[in-house]
Amino acid sequence: MAVEAQALVTMVAVFLLSSFLTKSAIPEAAAGGGSSFLDELRDALGDDAPALVLRDDAEATARASADFGNVSSPVFAAPQAVLYPSSPGDIAALVRASWARAPASPFPVSARGRGHSTRGQAAAPGGVVVDMPSLGRGPGGTAERLSVSADGGYVDAGGEQLWVDVLHAALAHGLTPRSWTDYLHLTVGGTLSNAGISGQAFRHGPQISNVLQLDVITGVGEMVTCSKEERADLFEAVLGGLGQFGVITRARIRLAPAPARARWVRLLYTTAASLTGDQERLIADGGGVSGLLDYVEGSVLLADQLAGSWRSPGSSFSSDADSGARVQALAREAGGVLYCLEGALYYGGASADGESDVAKRLEVLLRELRYERGFAFVHDVPYSGFLDRVHSGELSLRAKGLWDVPHPWLNLFLPRSHILDFAAGVFHGILRRDNDNHITGAGGPVLIYPMNRDKWDEKMSAVFPEEEEVFYTVGILPSAPPATSTDGGDELRRMEEQNEEIMRFCEAAGIPCVQYLSYYAGQDGWEKKHFGPARWARFVERKRQYDPKAILSRGQRIFTSPLA
Ligand SMILES: Cc1cc2nc3c(=O)[nH]c(=O)nc-3n(C[C@H](O)[C@H](O)[C@H](O)COP(=O)(O)OP(=O)(O)OC[C@H]3O[C@@H](n4cnc5c(N)ncnc54)[C@H](O)[C@@H]3O)c2cc1C
Ligand SMILES: *[C@@H]1O[C@H](CO)[C@@H](O)[C@H](O)[C@H]1NC(C)=O
Repeated sequence: MAVEAQALVTMVAVFLLSSFLTKSAIPEAAAGGGSSFLDELRDALGDDAPALVLRDDAEATARASADFGNVSSPVFAAPQAVLYPSSPGDIAALVRASWARAPASPFPVSARGRGHSTRGQAAAPGGVVVDMPSLGRGPGGTAERLSVSADGGYVDAGGEQLWVDVLHAALAHGLTPRSWTDYLHLTVGGTLSNAGISGQAFRHGPQISNVLQLDVITGVGEMVTCSKEERADLFEAVLGGLGQFGVITRARIRLAPAPARARWVRLLYTTAASLTGDQERLIADGGGVSGLLDYVEGSVLLADQLAGSWRSPGSSFSSDADSGARVQALAREAGGVLYCLEGALYYGGASADGESDVAKRLEVLLRELRYERGFAFVHDVPYSGFLDRVHSGELSLRAKGLWDVPHPWLNLFLPRSHILDFAAGVFHGILRRDNDNHITGAGGPVLIYPMNRDKWDEKMSAVFPEEEEVFYTVGILPSAPPATSTDGGDELRRMEEQNEEIMRFCEAAGIPCVQYLSYYAGQDGWEKKHFGPARWARFVERKRQYDPKAILSRGQRIFTSPLA
């Protein structure tokens, strides 16, 4: 051990000296095979070098710099190389090699889950992207990276694992995590770096509120196990930490008994006030309809969405043409905008409720809620199919070449007292603007649902409105036509302008909106618009502690140079 440490010190010293002498900064772009960057990196890695799989060919670096956003702004430089780790130790060695390039020029290192970010957040401009899925293909395979505890209390999942695989591993034991995202083909480390929200968050909090322990590799290259009991500050920093404080290589996630089925309910409303009034009754504590639904979301149906929704094509309101026509008529009466409450009641399996309980709960709901009578649509589906509902939409869009298209998404959080002003200005204003005599809508789904702030932990890094007991999330999720199509570029530009207009509207109307899955062009936006003074000071202090050379997740554009 001592000998090894000595060798490392010598190796680092030699490396520092040589880089000082040659003054060779990392070249701006890899020049293809045999790049000096890879040679330097292998030098820095020393004994670790032969074991690490690194690629710097154009295909690997291009793949690692594209993401679900599929937009060309911000322009982010490709990485110089991609690491395909077979164990967490590989990632730690890479981070230590970057650290060793100090004092002046450590190279960026970014974990990349599936690249479902939309603005280059998983990019590593001029540095190394870590292809996280490779961890699951290591010697132990997935079995070693995904295991349910003997007492059934939790599942240990590699940071690279997909939530859909976590679901199936837990279901094999009659168990399930409690908090989800709408789409499950996202990685554990990726959603825990943001928050992870869906219709269960009102009751169980975001996914980051359901983690018991993490294995993390910090920006110093240290491998740490942390929890609320042990290294709590690092644990809280990493959860919602936008990849800034460490790479999550394992998360211990709380489990509960799994239901077998979901009764999936959609109810139509003609005003934002009636929808949100019912949503808030449903998520409140105690009394009336509260607690009757296990999942509460909602959406705004504009012109384009009334024609059908990609989120659940197999289960749009009803297959019969008659109810389709009735929905259209209701929309016309309501002035072109409808609201839909989407809920689910879980039952069967190991959950507390059986078939007759769910029927009773549903009966009370349909009697007590204030939707438009005659516009309730109920489906009964397996629990796992309900949770994985967006995947069928993905497959059909892929088949039509409409998945790898630009996604200028905007996700916001805002306090409940402002939601009706927001609805009036945005849903009935900006998104309904007449565009060449053709009301286009949002170009994709528009989600709206409330959450209880006491289920969020303000010690964690995720930013949410703290001033009221309830806050809303609004997701405006358009798909633009492919850039290659005739009106592709124009449509994308129109949508981007629309997003900017929404942000300007909020500012002018005094609506305190904070972005989720945020994008700001630089540090100033993060500091002033996102964090605010107190949270920013804490975020910077944590950065100084866990990643002072700003090596990790630079694609977020929060820190672009070392702090110390
Ligand atoms: C169709 C679709 C639906 C979605 N629905 C929801 C939803 O309902 N709710 C919701 O909350 N989100 C949702 N998202 C957003 C999703 O949470 C983000 O895209 C998130 O970034 C996860 O994607 P990923 O796993 O591919 O991570 P990436 O995009 O690869 O990475 C995201 C960020 O985390 C960092 N990172 C990745 N892995 C790790 C790790 N192991 N440790 C530390 N940092 C890491 C990256 O460097 C990057 O900064 C949705 C996205 C899509 C495309
Ligand atoms: C968008 O996706 C298409 C199809 O995969 C691809 O050819 C194009 O390069 C992508 N554009 C950007 C900016 O990522």
